[in-house]
Order: sequence, then structure tokens, then C-alpha cells
Amino acid sequence: MNVLLIGGGGREHALAWKLAQSPALDTLYAAPGNPGIAHHATCVALDATDHATVVAFAMKHAVRLVVIGPEAPLVDGLADTLRDAGLAVFGPSAAAAQLEGSKGFTKDLCARAGIPTAGYIRCNDVDTAHAALKGTFGLPVVVKADGLAAGKGVVVAFDHATAAAAVDSIFAEPGAQIVIEEFLEGEEVSLFVLTDGQAILSFGSAQDHKRVGEGDVGANTGGMGAYSPATVLTPELEARALAEIVLPTVAAMRESGTPFSGVLYAGLMLTPRGPQLIEYNARFGDPEAQVLMARFSGDLLHTLLAVAEERLAMLPPVAFDDAVALTVVMAAQGYPGTPRTGGRIAGLADAEATGAMVFQAGTRMTGDGLVASGGRVLAVTATGTDVASAQAAAYRGVDAIDFETGFCRRDIGWREVARAG
Ligand code: AMP
Ligand code: GLY
Repeated sequence: MNVLLIGGGGREHALAWKLAQSPALDTLYAAPGNPGIAHHATCVALDATDHATVVAFAMKHAVRLVVIGPEAPLVDGLADTLRDAGLAVFGPSAAAAQLEGSKGFTKDLCARAGIPTAGYIRCNDVDTAHAALKGTFGLPVVVKADGLAAGKGVVVAFDHATAAAAVDSIFAEPGAQIVIEEFLEGEEVSLFVLTDGQAILSFGSAQDHKRVGEGDVGANTGGMGAYSPATVLTPELEARALAEIVLPTVAAMRESGTPFSGVLYAGLMLTPRGPQLIEYNARFGDPEAQVLMARFSGDLLHTLLAVAEERLAMLPPVAFDDAVALTVVMAAQGYPGTPRTGGRIAGLADAEATGAMVFQAGTRMTGDGLVASGGRVLAVTATGTDVASAQAAAYRGVDAIDFETGFCRRDIGWREVARAG
């Protein structure tokens, strides 16, 4: 079977690595891919916003399944165009990707379906938003831009001035919409669920570190590291989250005529009242995919194809190693601001000789070897029998890498290690 993977980050490297292990795979194509993905796939320079070209490529190369990694092409309707052309696709339609693409859409759906989530108000103009801040919500309060914002559209404000400034900054964009939310107290955890629109299959839990600094301080990033499973999501809490949040969402999407097919990534807050939905993503997380794939022992191609072909109910439960997986992101200096690109990277083979897996995110091959080309550059991933040994193994990999213009946090997994100890 030939497969086309859309994307070129660390998440897609992990997906490519796992897809390549399937005995059913003939050729894996990746667009655009990256130097790490090139070890497992033929990288092709396709523009994912040019849907016709992607369809033509898939037809010409007898592609049986297209796997869409990132959110932007999903919200942009690439899955719809491919399905209209008769192709099997792992990833939701544009209408279903609204679960990630519009925070207001998701909040309204939760309200209709009685799904536990923070109280909220949607506002289309700046005056209503300021009035809502004064009248409806206490502090802290959460202000969110409605659309895709690459992790930058959310401000948790502990005072009115910060909240008001966030409102003004969002409405500085013409046509902006915002959601103002009640602040939820608790620990955050991510739950991944495969669904073909009907059946659901839990694909495990993870926690990430969003802040750039050790101790979880400083600016927000796409994620500086992650581990799986997250024991704070006990089997009881996972069952509640599936029953009270995920299943009603999948049912509501189906009943609206826009079934969600793909992976639903639920960001949950574990509050004293039980799990509450913070947000949905319509794709695997990055770097959460790296730790999920490190633990997954099934056939990824079969699994994703079963989702795409609406045969999920026939699959056995997802097979995971007992191992704990942990990934440390090595980023370019400056990230999450403007990253310093072009810095040399060496020692990846040495890192892999320690047993770690090095997933590449922002790298480029030059005449002088591998260099950094983005903010998050590598995700050094390892497994262990417990979180402390996975953490030690990941940092052995990190320490074997020579990346002078890079940095990483040294405390990935600290909360879980403390819990386990
Ligand atoms: P989001 O982009 O919706 O995931 O929000 C980014 C981060 O903001 C989340 O990971 C949470 O840490 C925080 N956050 C978002 N909404 C809330 C909320 N209602 N209460 C508390 N924290 C929140
Ligand atoms: N690591 C967070 C995300 O993928 O959205």
C-alpha cells in the first residue's frame, strides 16, 4: 500500500517512523517531510494548500491512504477535497475540524450537549467584550481568539488590565471574534481518542510542558517536552472523560451531519468537579505524538486506515507497551521568539546509540550537514519501565547531541517523577 503523509514536523517524523514499520506499506511519501522523515519516506515538495496538486499526486502514485498531520490543512478542507476524489483520508473534514478551528463553535456544542467545560461568552465586538469582562466574570479570567492561533491566542489574565489589553489586541485584527471564559482550576492532561465518526478507541494520555522555562515558567511554546501515559488521568477519570466529554461530542458531530473522523485530542482540566474540557485539537499533538508512537505497539497503518474507512469498531483495543515514554524538545535559541536558525547539529547517531529516538522537527540538510531551520528542532524520545528511567534515557540521548545554538529544559517530566517517587 502507498501512503501519503502531509506535514514536516516532529509529529510527522514519529508518524512516519511508525507507519514505516507496517508490513502492509509499500511506499511512504511525505509532503514536505524533513531530513529525519526522509529515512522512512520519499519526501516530495507538494504545497498542501494546492489541493488539486495533492489529489493529482495521490492518484498518480496509487496512494491508498492520506494521513494529514497538522491542523492548518484540516481546517482548510484538504481532507474534503481528497475524499471527494475518492481517496481514503485520516483526518477530519473542514466542518469537523471546527472543533479545533473555532473555540466558539466548540463551546456552543458543549453547551448544547451538556459537556462539562468552563462557562463562557462569545463576543463579536470590542464593547460587548469589555462589558462581559466587567459584568460576568471574576478573576482570573481567560480571553481567547476564536480561530487557529498556533498556541498564541490564549491569555489567562489575573487582573482586569491584562484581560482588557488581551481583548483590545484580539480585536485589533479585523473580523476577530473572541471567547471569554471562566478560569478552571486543576491539573491539565491530554487524552487522545481515535474515532471514525461512530466508534471511539482511546489512544492514551499524555502531559506536556508548554512553558519555555524550567519549573513551567516563562513564555508559552508549542510544547517543550511530554510524557505518556499521564497517571493523573486514572482509568476512572479516563472513563468519565470518554463518557461525559468525548462520546457526546462525537454523537453531536454525527447528528449535525458533520461526523468527526480522525484523532480527537481533548485538552482536559481535572477539577474537583471532575474532568472538564479546555479545548479540542483535531490532530495528534506535537510533541505528544512522539511519546504515543514510542509506546504504540500495533500496526499504525492498519489502525489509521480503519479510521479512514469507518471500520474502527472492528479493531481490537489499541496495543501499547507497558513502557513510559518521555520526549525532550531541543529548540533553537530565541524560541518561542525568533529562533536562531542555521546552527549545526551533530551526534544524532550517538544519541540513537544510547537507545533514544531522535525525531526531527525543524531541521534542514545543507552541504555542511544538518542545521536548525525552525524553533523546535529535535524531539529526543526514550522509553523506560518507569518515568524516571524514561527521563534518564531521554537526557542520555540529549547529552550525546552536539547542537551549540540550541537549548532544552532539563526538567521534563518533573511532576510525574515526583508523583512516582
Ligand atoms: P488552549 O489554546 O485553549 O489550549 O489554551 C492554552 C492554555 O491556556 C491551556 O493549555 C491552559 O493552560 C490555559 N487555559 C485555557 N483555557 C483555560 C481555562 N478556562 N481555565 C484555565 N486555564 C485555561
Ligand atoms: N503540544 C500541544 C499541541 O500539539 O497542540
